[in-house]
Amino acid sequence: MGEKITIKNKEEIALMREACVVTSTILDEVGEIIRPGMSTEEINTFVHRRTTDLGAIPSPLNYKGFPKSVCVSPNDVICHGIPAPFVVLQAGDIVNVDVTSYKNGFHGDSSRMYFVGGEEACSPDARELVRVTREALMAGIRQVKPGNRIGDIGFAIQEYIRGIDRGYGIVREYTGHGLGREFHEAPQVLHVGRKGTGDIMKPGMTFTIEPMINAGTHKTSLSKLDGWTVRTADGKLSAQWEHTVLVTETGVEIMTKSPTGLF
Ligand code: MF3
Ligand code: CO
Ligand code: CO
Repeated sequence: MGEKITIKNKEEIALMREACVVTSTILDEVGEIIRPGMSTEEINTFVHRRTTDLGAIPSPLNYKGFPKSVCVSPNDVICHGIPAPFVVLQAGDIVNVDVTSYKNGFHGDSSRMYFVGGEEACSPDARELVRVTREALMAGIRQVKPGNRIGDIGFAIQEYIRGIDRGYGIVREYTGHGLGREFHEAPQVLHVGRKGTGDIMKPGMTFTIEPMINAGTHKTSLSKLDGWTVRTADGKLSAQWEHTVLVTETGVEIMTKSPTGLF
């Protein structure tokens, strides 16, 4: 297994929880402002302003050269969509907004899907993909408890998607990750895997689970133009939901759970 996984103590967890609350608060607010005709640049402006208002720093900005404060990934964009004035959301689009906030020396990372123009505006296939992807995340989260292994998470997600039997692809190249004082640290959390493999979960570990599920092939295509935008190789839709979780003495705490209980 890989590098050492950091264990956070009570004080560190309390500090990190505040970063996670900033993230989930902003994601709640995005749900209230997102509408057809809005550019992804406007979402970036909103997220940046709310992050600083809440006493945090947007982790994506300048991370490995990423030029914006949030990732916004519509339709066939799997992840790492760069906000731009010319990317305008339309009714019927599905879009992932991935917010990471840095506060108190810790990061909180979460993403959700939004239906542009409301769920009714979106196709049944798009709605099903979004629902199933959220269930896949929850299946992964249910594996989180001391003594279980990191590979159990990917196994549960893979088994859930297999059971749905819609021919969906699970993205391999991008994964969940440990986080805390660093944006990305050990362990790597794959969304496919074998039961009983990988590092053993221990209380105080914090990591993300963030399955990316494609309507078609699992294969991806990285934009040669911007070096960031990841699309499905076949142009079909992709969805993603992400939470930051803490391994507790008895199980799991979803650190980026919405204050309103929406997600
Ligand atoms: N928030 C993303 C994740 O879930 C990472 C974005 S990296 C960036 O891991 F540079 F694109 F912002
Ligand atoms: Co994220
Ligand atoms: Co993440």
